[in-house]
Amino acid sequence: MSFPEMRSCLDLIKPYVPGKPVEEVERELGLSGVIKLASNENALGPSPLAVKAMQENADKMHIYPDGNCYYLKEALAAKLKIKPEQLIFGNGSDEILSFLTLALINPGDEAVMVAPSFSEYDFALRLMGGVPYLVPLVGSEFAYDLDAVLKAVNDQTRIVFICSPNNPTGSHIQRADFERFMAKLPDKVLVVLDQAYIEYVTDSGHPEGLDLIKQGYPLIALRTFSKIYGLAGLRIGYGIASSELIAVLNRVREPFNVNAMAQKAALAALDDDDHLKRSVQLVTEGRETLTTGMAALDLKPVPDQANFCFVDTGVDSRQAFQALLKKGVIVRTGDIFGYPSYIRVTYGTAEQNARFLKALEEVLAKLK
Ligand SMILES: Cc1ncc(COP(=O)(O)O)c(C=O)c1O
Repeated sequence: MSFPEMRSCLDLIKPYVPGKPVEEVERELGLSGVIKLASNENALGPSPLAVKAMQENADKMHIYPDGNCYYLKEALAAKLKIKPEQLIFGNGSDEILSFLTLALINPGDEAVMVAPSFSEYDFALRLMGGVPYLVPLVGSEFAYDLDAVLKAVNDQTRIVFICSPNNPTGSHIQRADFERFMAKLPDKVLVVLDQAYIEYVTDSGHPEGLDLIKQGYPLIALRTFSKIYGLAGLRIGYGIASSELIAVLNRVREPFNVNAMAQKAALAALDDDDHLKRSVQLVTEGRETLTTGMAALDLKPVPDQANFCFVDTGVDSRQAFQALLKKGVIVRTGDIFGYPSYIRVTYGTAEQNARFLKALEEVLAKLK
């Protein structure tokens, strides 16, 4: 079949390789009860209030969704004490990254991002023919060097992506450093502060993007219902920014980009403080269990403020992955982030954490 030539910027994009469905892994390996600690999902599951809202609205799915996410936008704006026009919803916060590059990146424009970080920044940028400028995180704690990020900004830079807490390292920035950085940033550069894991942060020195947006800094904060709210399967996230920037992003948004079920569930989940608290508690306990358990194996995870940890196993992470898989535990390998001996593990339930630690101990005893 012949078709028009592919845009040349796609040469640099590799298709996303998804993991197999858990049920398929179980069938192939003849296992049951396989656990997935690979995608930073909420091991508690969705907010029960969201589940109820979905059940109550199942028979309304023949109607197109509200293209303006009206009720969700009003509720969230009231909660955040901002104007509804300062919010945009996406089919996951991933989609908002695409809105940003669609709206702001011409071929050859640059964006600065740290390495390792969330792969969608690179993807969304390259899709528009943009060029990434990578600034490495520093030391064994994968700390941000915001001075180095600032130095990387030049006349071609349109966007700086800051992910805090950062995926896959879990490391985070400090408010004072970030405010200094924002104050020095040249005009016409937009900072995308990805706060997908913000609800898990316990360090009071972590910045809140909203405060800086309210002060008028050129910033968009991204958040999601996929992580602590446990709604990853529905695909809904949002951006908070000035109403002027949101108006620009709305120009590239398709009318019905957020499905109706997601809107209903997210609205209900917003009020579920109990689920939120229990989710934070689970992660706090998971962090303690895994930090102690891995210390007993002479492993030291990178200190994190998220619902996962990044840890150097000292062995080839692909081999560790395969061996863990055979024991029914799925984690993320570090090679995709450029760290071939690291794995990223999402904190699970107490039972899942115990299974992971036992499996890891057995696997390392064989591989080391
Ligand atoms: C840092 C970061 N940002 C954004 C996302 C995507 O979130 P969503 O499910 O809302 O697209 C993820 C998901 O893993 C993430 O780790």
